[in-house]
Amino acid sequence: MKMRMTTPWRFALAMVLTSIGANAFADAPIVIKFSHVVAVDTPKGKAAAFFAKRAEELTKGQVKVEVYPNSQLYKDKEELQALQLGSVQMLAPSLSKFAPLGVKEFEVFDLPFLFNNYAELHRVTQGPVGQNLLSKLEAQGITGLAYWDNGFKVFTANKPLKKPADFKGLRMRIQSSRVLMAEMQALGAEPQVLAFSETYQALQTRMLDGTENPPSNLYTQKMHEVQKHLTVSNHGYLGYALVVNKKFWDGLPANLRKLLTQAVEESTKVANDQAFVANRDAMANVKAAGKTEIHMPTPEELLALKKALLPVHAQMTGRVGQDTLKAIYRETGFKPPAP
Ligand code: LMR
Repeated sequence: MKMRMTTPWRFALAMVLTSIGANAFADAPIVIKFSHVVAVDTPKGKAAAFFAKRAEELTKGQVKVEVYPNSQLYKDKEELQALQLGSVQMLAPSLSKFAPLGVKEFEVFDLPFLFNNYAELHRVTQGPVGQNLLSKLEAQGITGLAYWDNGFKVFTANKPLKKPADFKGLRMRIQSSRVLMAEMQALGAEPQVLAFSETYQALQTRMLDGTENPPSNLYTQKMHEVQKHLTVSNHGYLGYALVVNKKFWDGLPANLRKLLTQAVEESTKVANDQAFVANRDAMANVKAAGKTEIHMPTPEELLALKKALLPVHAQMTGRVGQDTLKAIYRETGFKPPAP
């Protein structure tokens, strides 16, 4: 039997629906979806959670941040596409991952032995050089809000890695970066680009032989359980840019953007403090787990590693841009080796 609604009933129903819709809209918070690929218990994971909490507190619930860790929503490449399309509003990809968007300069951070410590790094990331690099993302529809630290990388494999010759022929997982590719090739290894979320399995099944990570990433992904040897090489840096979809950011009411900027500043401090602590603790945890032999390179071994890797700077200058590289050298006092 067909039900027919009389005009007064139709009118009443429309009124109810309109008022529900209007109320729902008035009370609905602005939602920021924040996707990332690492565990919650990492510098980035903790800083993202802190940002979510502070954003909601400072805006008194007018902004709600939904954090999706561990590649739950998107893997490395997809998350950047999702950001540009506006399917998510915020990310903090590693600096190595921006080149596919056409901003190749970010690969400068991948150059081996470019920074000796966090202090040198911060002169770049917290100064004009870092700011200038972030501004290059605007043309891609992305606004760079801050740099978040992770840390300095260690090499791992199932054989000891003491001298460059030990890397020969090893299939090493890298992030998608030409500079990292050149780094592994300089050691005679075979670089393999793979999404972060697929790395553990590739190592476990021995599809790949080894990789490089800051200890916090290695430990929280349990990679140490499937890697018998680790060399504390600190041969390169891995960190992040906290980025937001530009259209979304520019479209926010100015007062909310200001409060979110404050939340960003506070979370940057959390990320950077956590980076130091988390990597130190992760190394201790890897040691305590007893599954991986840890090797501290001798000064001679470190020198041999540097000798093999430093030519990557000259080789990759065209890729990362002479001006960017020189500006970083100026900030840090790095002296490039004579060609
Ligand atoms: C990686 O792919 O190794 C890292 O970029 C993961 C991350 O976000 O720290």
